[in-house]
Amino acid sequence: MTINVLFVCLGNICRSPMAEAVFQQLVNDAGLSSQFRIDSAGTGSWHVGEKAHPGTRKILAEHNIAYNGRARQVTAQDLADPKTYIITMDRSNSNDLRRQFGQHANQYRLLDFSSQQAETDVPDPYYTNNFEYVYQLVKDGCEGLLKTIREREGL
Ligand code: 4NP
Repeated sequence: MTINVLFVCLGNICRSPMAEAVFQQLVNDAGLSSQFRIDSAGTGSWHVGEKAHPGTRKILAEHNIAYNGRARQVTAQDLADPKTYIITMDRSNSNDLRRQFGQHANQYRLLDFSSQQAETDVPDPYYTNNFEYVYQLVKDGCEGLLKTIREREGL
């Protein structure tokens, strides 16, 4: 059985590609890559086809994490399977998805799985430019997410 995980943000160039890459690395390191299909997408269409933001590419490179994806927009097909883990970066992404596609049974915010309590939403580095802070939050959230999925799916 393949576990599908889709990370969602607004533009799919800053936060969700970072989460996709960090989570993929954690899954690879755990020897579980054959059991997962991991992707990311944006609720908006402005950046479709673009590479990740230079700030995201730089921070991933600094942490030796590979990423080559291009931005794409979320589709109804992405949310068609109620077992897919839909992981948004902030409350506004969650609301946008519900508005566009209706309630999804397995949708969470990334920082629902975080060990810290200071932030519930991943702040958008497109505006803050604080990619290192975002990386720390994303990493912490991804570690918690993998732990939860492993417990839930018996991996
Ligand atoms: P992201 O950041 O949602 O983390 O990819 C953004 C990227 C682009 C825009 C907004 C947020 N934009 O308005 O173009």
